[in-house]
Amino acid sequence: MLADDKIFLGTSTQPEYLALKYGNRHGLVTGATGTGKTVTLQVLAEGFSAAGVPVFAADIKGDLSGVGKMGQAQGWQTQRAQDIGFDDFSDDVFPVIFWDLFGRQGHPVRATISEMGALLLSRMLDLNDTQEGVLNIAFKLADDEGLLLLDLKDLRALLVHIQERAKEISARYGNVSTASIGAIQRALLVLEQQGAENFFGERALEIADLMRTDRDGRGFISILAADELMRAPRLYATFLLWLLSELFEELPEVGDPDKPKLVFFFDEAHLLFDGAPKVLIDKVEQVVRLVRSKGVGVYFVTQNPVDIPETVLAQLSNRVQHALRAYTPREQKAVKVAADTFRPNPAFSTAEVITQLGIGEALVSVLEAKGIPSMVGRTMIRPPSAQVGPITPAEREAIIAASPVAGLYDNPIDRDSAFEVLTRRARDKQLAEERQRQDDDIRKTQRTYQDERPRRSPAPRSSSRQTPTEAAMNSLARTVANRLGDALVRGILGGLKRGR
Ligand SMILES: Nc1ncnc2c1ncn2[C@@H]1O[C@H](COP(=O)(O)OP(=O)(O)OP(=O)(O)O)[C@@H](O)[C@H]1O
Ligand SMILES: [Mg+2]
Repeated sequence: MLADDKIFLGTSTQPEYLALKYGNRHGLVTGATGTGKTVTLQVLAEGFSAAGVPVFAADIKGDLSGVGKMGQAQGWQTQRAQDIGFDDFSDDVFPVIFWDLFGRQGHPVRATISEMGALLLSRMLDLNDTQEGVLNIAFKLADDEGLLLLDLKDLRALLVHIQERAKEISARYGNVSTASIGAIQRALLVLEQQGAENFFGERALEIADLMRTDRDGRGFISILAADELMRAPRLYATFLLWLLSELFEELPEVGDPDKPKLVFFFDEAHLLFDGAPKVLIDKVEQVVRLVRSKGVGVYFVTQNPVDIPETVLAQLSNRVQHALRAYTPREQKAVKVAADTFRPNPAFSTAEVITQLGIGEALVSVLEAKGIPSMVGRTMIRPPSAQVGPITPAEREAIIAASPVAGLYDNPIDRDSAFEVLTRRARDKQLAEERQRQDDDIRKTQRTYQDERPRRSPAPRSSSRQTPTEAAMNSLARTVANRLGDALVRGILGGLKRGR
């Protein structure tokens, strides 16, 4: 059943395969709770990894972690293999890297505020248009004044600074009201309470670390702990979107490769689109469309295909549809929508079968020769080879300690950035004012003393009004600006691209 250029998915009236060369044509795994979506995701992840394709997946319930542990021919896995005539089934284990935005169940994942950009940050903070406008101005000002925005305290300091210069900045960039700044500060506080404080900063995640293969040429499966993250769905969704846009920005164009460079699974994909403004949906649609030619396959996993906007849905070529219920009118509509996306099979009614599928059974349609969708097949999905279900915390610890990125991200770096620069500027300004006052006092005394002598014009003070430290700081700011100048390119979702 196993083959080199395709992933074995299961058996209908014939074996069903996903061709690796169409792996970047994206996919969709849907079905009601408990119908077998996560197991199917594991089958796909194992298949890509075995073919040397690195995988990134969020683990919502912790049940994907088993992919990093040797399977033990559990009852139902062996049974299913037998049922479908899968003779070359064997236990296996796959290379895994665990990641965690909160740094607890995996290596910390970080991004900088600049990289995130105003559009995604606004979405993360749930800002209205006016507040988003102010955030845009903040980013613009930071660019213009060479202030690095790395972490949340940088952004906070910048907002305070903007408030102090509100009049001048409003005249130059557009209105910044105290109310809007206050609202953004409050939203930042909420984000911090959700634990995002550690997420923003350095060392920022390098895409290359998601694209590793092990010594045997297997693709690493990067698993993002997302159980806690689910309590901050906005953070979850925007983070994944950011990551996707990073992949798009960083990876070179490859056309149509033999196999994908990376496969990205978006579990609970409805969270991405719930209440998302049209601009954002359009951007997602655009990124998903364009990232294909970078060799990245995006697979959405969600309960119901109607959770995904039509423009995005239209791009997901490889489909696994598990059972759907059809009790309510909304459910019936969803079944119809799901059924209509398949190329019909004269042997059965797609819509009828969707509601009758058993656990671990699905309608499968993939791209075949010339990129044409295959006729839908009622398929018994193959069992995964690794453990199904979570590993223990101790097993997780062991994998983290032995990981190829061990020690790379584990400690935060706090580089000189907006917060530090603005704090120094404020302190220097204070010092300068102090000195000015002292100078004035001295001059006053001298003047009283010299009153009898002919008046000379006062000696010119140092030509600029800057203190030496301030001058040095400003020149540092300029260097930063100049250095950034080369790289001041904003990506498709508005994030600042890294200089290369
Ligand atoms: N291919 C399969 N063969 C046999 N049994 C399966 C298969 N897929 C799933 N199952 C059984 O169904 C259970 C639930 O599967 P899974 O966790 O994948 O469902 P799910 O759709 O992800 O559910 P949820 O929406 O709750 O996350 C598995 O633990 C397993 O017992
Ligand atoms: Mg699941």
